[in-house]
Parts: sequence; C-alpha cells; structure tokens
Amino acid sequence: MNSPIAFQILNLPAHCSFHEADWFLLAKYWYPIARSVDVDEQPVKATLLDEALVMYRINQELVIAKDACPHRGVPLTLGKHDGEGVVCPYHGLRFGEHGHCNRIPSSPNQAIPSKLNLTTFPSVERYGLIWTCLLPQGDTDVPSMPLWDETDVQHVICPAVDIAAFAGRQVEGFLDVAHFAWVHSGTFADAGNQLVNDYHPTETTYGFAADYWSTVGNYPASEHYKGTPDFKWLRHFELHVPFTATLTIHFRHGGKMVIMNAACPVSARQTRLFAPLVKNFDLEDDEQAIIDYNLKIFEEDRMVVESQKPERLPLDLSLEAHIPADRSSVMFRRCLKKAGFGDFFLV
Ligand code: FES
Ligand SMILES: [Fe+2]
Repeated sequence: MNSPIAFQILNLPAHCSFHEADWFLLAKYWYPIARSVDVDEQPVKATLLDEALVMYRINQELVIAKDACPHRGVPLTLGKHDGEGVVCPYHGLRFGEHGHCNRIPSSPNQAIPSKLNLTTFPSVERYGLIWTCLLPQGDTDVPSMPLWDETDVQHVICPAVDIAAFAGRQVEGFLDVAHFAWVHSGTFADAGNQLVNDYHPTETTYGFAADYWSTVGNYPASEHYKGTPDFKWLRHFELHVPFTATLTIHFRHGGKMVIMNAACPVSARQTRLFAPLVKNFDLEDDEQAIIDYNLKIFEEDRMVVESQKPERLPLDLSLEAHIPADRSSVMFRRCLKKAGFGDFFLV
C-alpha cells in the first residue's frame, strides 16, 4: 500500500519548476484558476503549480481534472463536449459527470473500469472566480473578501492578467505603498506625493493586516465620495498566505471599494492574476471603464515585477535591503517563512 508521502511524490507534476517541499506546501492552498463566466460546457485549460488542468461543465456540475486522458495521455482540452461529456480526440473516450468515463466507442458493451476516470480536484465558485486546490486538506479554504456579500454594491470581475514573474513578487508589489508615486502617476497617484507615513502591520490567523493612512487618493469617484486635498484615505490591507490579498479603500462619506489581488501561481515564473472588485458607491458606473482603468494599473505593475531580480522572493531578510516603507513586505516574507516556505524555485 502506498504511504501518503509516496502517493504525493507520484503526483508531483512533470517539469515542476518549484522546489519539491514548497510545491507540496503550496498545493494545500486554494487558488483561482478562471473566471466563472469564462467556463461553460467546452473544455478550458488552466495551469496551477505546473499542473495542467481541464475545466468543463456538465448538467449543473463544474469538473476540474488533470488535463490528461487516462488512456494515452492526450490533453482533453484538445477535445470537444458533445452534450454528454468531453470527447478525447485520440480514441473517442468520453468523460462526463464527476470526470467519469462514460463511453468507450471501440468497445461499447464493455464495463468501464474506474481507472479510466479522470483525476479530479474540488471546485468552489466565489467572487466570480473558479477556485481549486490540488492537495485538499478537508475544508474549503477560500480567502475572505470584505463587502462582496453585502447588498447595494457593484461587482466587477476584471479579466485575468498574465505576468511573467513569480506570484510572491507580484503580491509583494500589491502590498507596497512606496511605489504609488513612482509607478502609478499615470493612474491614481501623484508623482509629487512620495512620503510614506508610518504604519504597523499586525499578524492574523490568515497572514497579516495593515492600515495605511495617506493623502494618496484620486481613484475616480463622484464629487460626494472623492477626497479633498487634505483628505486622509485609509487603505486596509489583508494578506492571506500565500498569494491572495485584499485592499479596502475608504472614501469620504462611507464609500468603500475592495479589490482582491488573487495571484494564481501557474509556475514558479508565471502568474495569472485575478482581480474581483466591489464597491458601495456610484453603483451605475460603467463596468468596462472600471475594467480598463484597473488593467492600466496592473500593466504599470507588470512591467516592474517582470524586471525584478532575483525572480524568486528571498525570505531570508538579509538578502535584500529594506526601507521603513517596506513594513508590509517584510511582514509578508516573515509570514511565508513561518508557514514553512523556503526558496520556492527549483533553480
Ligand atoms: S488517448 Fe484519449 S481516448 Fe485514447
Ligand atoms: Fe502597483
């Protein structure tokens, strides 16, 4: 009989770019792999932690499975849904509910062995995203997002953004408050407003939280909600180990906007960023305009994050220099280290 460890080692993806111990730890967390609106009956591909996945819907069920036909290993994302399941293009085996094989065209009268069923993973749809976990530990553990479930709010789910960089670097950039004036002066920040006020992240059960007060604002809002020149904006960050963060921006008169930065680690060097957004003001704002504005911000960040060296996020704090504005990124690295992560990268 296989021990759990032997079973897990057999399941390490081929060409895995992560250090083995880090991969097994990363695989226990939940990540978004697609927007719900982007997956219907036909098979859709995603990659999580170097594992190629296929997603398809059948009846009311969403199936997530390894993108490999159990017969001869052809990706099912090359196949087509015929109404009763996804048909593999090589010999026509069909996979339906629960990823079970329901047809062998060359032997239609033969009983179908369970060995022909797909290797499936659990799925949860939250914040307009499809979440999964490669090594589930029992409970569904999708990070929480403030404001999402309240009434009288506007939801926007930005299209995914592909970034040729490590998820840890991308998330650290989302938590960084000193780069606003330098990287985002084309969107929400003011190039002349460079000072970072003191702030103090506090550890939580899920990672850490930080409240950052500043006069950096200017996110488009109607007159009633937007700031005056001396208005202090509160940015409340919550980091969920390893790669999901939420930012709640407090506008005037109780206006709030929350953006989730949910980084899907496609591989050690590739990240797919998902960003659902919710706000409780100006509910009639044009959705496409909100998406365009946020994609512009992500593009400003992408160019920086893709340029960083080393590509991995050094958890040993002595390996990079830190300035007082980096309290959140230092805390982020401490949280990842405390959770047991190492160098992440294989090489
Ligand atoms: S490889 Fe898929 S049916 Fe043979
Ligand atoms: Fe940024």
